Amino acid sequence: MQEFDELRKQAKTEAENTVSLGALNDVRAKFIGKNGEITALLRQMKDIPFEERASFGKKVNDLKEEVSAIFEKKERELKEKEREDRFKKEAVDITLPGNAVKVGGAHPLNIVKNKIIDAFCGLGFEVFEGPEIDSDYYCFQALNIPKDHPARDMQDTFYINDNILLRPHTSPGQVRTMENKKPPIKILSPGRVYRADDDASHSPMFHQIEGLVVDKGVSLCDLKGLLDTFVKLIFDEDTKTRFRPSYFPFTEPSVEVDVTCCKCHGKGCGLCKNTGWIEILGAGVVNKNVLKMSGIDPEVYSGLAFGLGIERIAMIKYGISDIRTLFESNVRFLEQFDRR
Ligand code: DAH
Repeated sequence: MQEFDELRKQAKTEAENTVSLGALNDVRAKFIGKNGEITALLRQMKDIPFEERASFGKKVNDLKEEVSAIFEKKERELKEKEREDRFKKEAVDITLPGNAVKVGGAHPLNIVKNKIIDAFCGLGFEVFEGPEIDSDYYCFQALNIPKDHPARDMQDTFYINDNILLRPHTSPGQVRTMENKKPPIKILSPGRVYRADDDASHSPMFHQIEGLVVDKGVSLCDLKGLLDTFVKLIFDEDTKTRFRPSYFPFTEPSVEVDVTCCKCHGKGCGLCKNTGWIEILGAGVVNKNVLKMSGIDPEVYSGLAFGLGIERIAMIKYGISDIRTLFESNVRFLEQFDRR
């Protein structure tokens, strides 16, 4: 009996003193494992007189159960403590400010390009994109600008060889469309263009959108109506348009189109150089030679064309004074525009 009490006390004390599940398992093995001290008692059974055996066995089993219960209780306590410790370690302070996720946005040039395309698509135009590297024929000759013609100076670009060049404008889109499509034609041709130019208002690479309408009986009046509707959509309802006579080899007559200044609304300010008007694009009635060269009969059909610079519209719309800021990828500059 004394040995039993001793074992019980010892197991209890040792279990209570353990601080980890690993240590508790060692203690458990020491007492009730296969070679444990209490288990060893059962092996003594054969030496116990027969009449005492039953009560001895019961006592050993009771002791084993009692000790097991102590170990289980301790195990629950240790597991609970381990869980609490882990929670403490993994705790996060939900009152701390979070790390904001940076969201990108469309580039101002894309915003303006999409607005222009939306406006014209609403008027029934389709989009056609031509190649950036194009031939002398499509960039000049088919647009009524023969080799060595002085008008080529207006669109001096980068040559790959005598015949292949980076297109200086999106006007070749007109020719490619007319060669492939029968009238009625109503297309827009947006894209990158290149010029041997570089200052605050000119960039060696910039973007244009070409427009072309070919049908029976279209005239300069239709052009005026079309562009008037367009500028009201892009700037605002009060914007007025004005045509000034101009010259382009591919249109006859040719015009330059001005709009009332969106900053001062025609009163005169720095942006419009005190004239109240800002030039936004070139346009005209398609030259009969151009129609003929692209396989369209100028006696049956007539055409309207216009070409605008996307940078120019963006600069006017957002009051940007240097074109180069549009290409510098300065996030602080770009963040100011619509985020969508
Ligand atoms: N291609 C001309 C340029 O780059 C712009 C232009 C003017 C396009 C008149 C046209 C047009 O289609 O009719 O300066």
